[in-house]
Amino acid sequence: MRDAQPTAIYLKDYQQPDYWIERTELTFELQDEYTLVTALLDLVRNDQAADGADLLLAGQDLELISLVLDGQTLTTGQYELGDESLTVKGVQQRSQLEIKTRIYPAKNTALEGLYRSGGMYCTQCEAEGFRRITYYLDRPDVMSVFTTHIIADAAQFPVLLSNGNLIADSVDNGLHKVTWQDPHKKPAYLFALVAGDLRVKEDRFTTMSGRDVVLKIFVEPQNIDKTDYALDALKRSMRWDEEVYGREYDLDIFMIVAVDDFNMGAMENKGLNIFNSSCVLANPATATDAAYQRIEAIVAHEYFHNWSGNRVTCRDWFQLSLKEGFTVFRDACFSADMNSATVKRIEDANIMRTVQFAEDGGPMAHPVQPDSFIEISNFYTVTIYEKGAEVVGMLHKILGKDGFRKGSDLYFDRHDGQAVTIYDFVQAMEDANGVDLTLFKRWYKQAGTPVVTVNSEYDADAQQLRLTLTQHCPDTPGQSNKLPQWIPVQLGLIGADGKDLVIQVEPASAWTESSQVLHLTEAEQTFVFSGVAEQPRLSLFRDFSAPVKVEFEQSADDLLFLLQHDSDGFNRWDAGQRLLLSWINAAQQGNFELRPEVREVFARLLADESLDPAMVSCLLTLPSEAYVAEFSAEVDPLAIHAARKQVQQAIAESLSEEFAACYQRLQSTAPYAPEPAQMSARSLKNLALAYWVKGSAAGLQQAVSQYRSADNMTDQMAALVAVVNSGDAAQAEQLLADFYQQWSQDALVVNQWLSVQAGSAELGKVEFIQQLLAHTAFDWRNPNKVRSVLGAFANQALCHFHREDGAGYRLLADAVLRLNDSNPQIAARLLTPLTKWRRLVPSLSELMKAELQRIMQHGALSKDVYEVVSKSLI
Ligand code: ARG
Ligand code: ZN
Repeated sequence: MRDAQPTAIYLKDYQQPDYWIERTELTFELQDEYTLVTALLDLVRNDQAADGADLLLAGQDLELISLVLDGQTLTTGQYELGDESLTVKGVQQRSQLEIKTRIYPAKNTALEGLYRSGGMYCTQCEAEGFRRITYYLDRPDVMSVFTTHIIADAAQFPVLLSNGNLIADSVDNGLHKVTWQDPHKKPAYLFALVAGDLRVKEDRFTTMSGRDVVLKIFVEPQNIDKTDYALDALKRSMRWDEEVYGREYDLDIFMIVAVDDFNMGAMENKGLNIFNSSCVLANPATATDAAYQRIEAIVAHEYFHNWSGNRVTCRDWFQLSLKEGFTVFRDACFSADMNSATVKRIEDANIMRTVQFAEDGGPMAHPVQPDSFIEISNFYTVTIYEKGAEVVGMLHKILGKDGFRKGSDLYFDRHDGQAVTIYDFVQAMEDANGVDLTLFKRWYKQAGTPVVTVNSEYDADAQQLRLTLTQHCPDTPGQSNKLPQWIPVQLGLIGADGKDLVIQVEPASAWTESSQVLHLTEAEQTFVFSGVAEQPRLSLFRDFSAPVKVEFEQSADDLLFLLQHDSDGFNRWDAGQRLLLSWINAAQQGNFELRPEVREVFARLLADESLDPAMVSCLLTLPSEAYVAEFSAEVDPLAIHAARKQVQQAIAESLSEEFAACYQRLQSTAPYAPEPAQMSARSLKNLALAYWVKGSAAGLQQAVSQYRSADNMTDQMAALVAVVNSGDAAQAEQLLADFYQQWSQDALVVNQWLSVQAGSAELGKVEFIQQLLAHTAFDWRNPNKVRSVLGAFANQALCHFHREDGAGYRLLADAVLRLNDSNPQIAARLLTPLTKWRRLVPSLSELMKAELQRIMQHGALSKDVYEVVSKSLI
């Protein structure tokens, strides 16, 4: 905890360090109470540094035992120990420094650096966790070759892992000693260590050049039957990166370890990825289809980092999106190739429009390349990750598949082994394609979501369509008067027969024929389409071609037409969502009615066996409450909840028979497999069940029977959720009790049980959340459990979180204060819903703001919480 007000760090202040570390040799002696760390650093002075420059190392929560510089033990005066730093004097042009420190992994509840999780030790060093292991130049531009020795009790720790290759392994006198050597230079944030009594599942992979790689997944003994899918996803990822990017794996061994206590999803440490167990472990009985898809995506994401992140890394943390945005783009393309590309695009657009647009419109808004931060952990955001991926995706649209690949080849070849900036990435794209992307770079520096306004005029005599697009980007904290951005508008003109018209447009230079993309680069531009024989319907921003908000009045009939006929699947969905959104808004005004012709369209979709079931499921899913909120000027969460429920009920009742029939049609007797066709069918089947339950008593009976007979978690969970949402409290209570009894020994399933309840509009009342927090299944030290209860409550049970007396906000603020001391990263993340107070109706807004002020007045705030709260109150 800090004494002084935390201060911001600025990108403009970036300077190279005065020393480099060529070689790092670490020795860990794991003892019951503490761990002794010896670091041997081979230092080389930076050519740009002054003669005799001091060496400034970062360190946090370390006990310094000794310092030896070039064989001489240093005494007070030869070094200076700060709160979070160590300054060493007398370092030569080349010197060797030995540092001994003592650390306390069992007391480390922040889960950064080296910590204990159950019976095992593990590390999390990104972004600045390595400084909790030893004093170091803990910054990504310092890349070093690492050798790691680990010494631990042989009985408790048969498995001792670190990065690279195992070069020594022995047991003597009850002590297990190993040495790992990583031939690749890397920044300290990619260092990893694991110790435990773990089981391993092994496989092999032959790379495109014929090298053999051993693949291993390490888990606690009870989880050994949950490793198959991750191994399979890993092999598919390795093949895909070879085929699509020409990138091969570069060590003889690749390891994954599953850990229960983990702040984030997973971490791409060189050769030794560490995963939150919820993002890697699965078997049919315990994991839902959604969990399988998440595992596939995250295994791929971490594997892809081996090139986009590890081989080419970030110069400083302002460049975080260099690796994260690019890698999310890569994993999204991988998932699109493995499953339905359209459904994946819909899911990603949903996240952008709900979570990212909200961040971009709130107090924590920041550009994809931020200018400053107080705590870097607060910048692992949807803007850095998902908007960053969208920006890379726009480059892909602008350059085309082949041009993009030329650019990525040049980027990897030119910068292999270096720590670089986002602009080095763009430069490689420019150089490989001979294009000027100056204007495009604004996407990296301007925060906020651009709004594009559309006007079109059709001239029947001239057979011309004039399309005028204007763009503006709202002010965000610290940024006003933004410049126009380069917005790729993928589009089609649709004739009355539902087919796309052939497009000829002026200016031709603003049009890319092959990708059907129009380039909007100015504040206002008019495009003239000629040879347009009939008044077309416009399908704009196909495939969600840019992360913008679109203002375009289209009639309900036009939307219904697009929903049925657009050749672009994403825009079929988008048209449907706009329609559904308009109904929810109408219901808020008290005038919603389901028109018969609309009912007919929905009925046809449900019966159409030529469509991908997962796509139909997306088409018939209502926009979430958060989605509706993001498209409202002033947010009244209780009114949104009631209106959405009314629309849902109307659809459920008027199509009850169709939902029942669709459900019956999709029943299957095939044994469960987590493969695309089955998952797609289940998603529509279970959506149909959810509606059917709301529309008739027979549906409820069917849900109970599905719950009882299910042999897989997807169907069991979907039935449970349907029953919980049915409003039949007695039935819900019985199944929930039954479920807990069946699964109380499986932590990951228990977490699902917690979140179904905490996130439910039927159950998630404040008093009930308090009971869950007191339940034996809950544990404040485990981030997954905190997310399952408090995250689900504050982000999903919106009608309870926004209770009129502010009790929901108070509950969350109390939790933030409690976690502020033990795990600041998680505390700061939990705060997000409270940062949205300005958008709420006045009565709620005041109550929420008061809770932020209460947190602010609390004495010792962590940097993490301080940054979010103070920025939210400005
Ligand atoms: N690099 C990790 C990933 O794959 C995330 C690390 C998060 N670390 C943190 N301190 N927030 O995305
Ligand atoms: Zn990542």
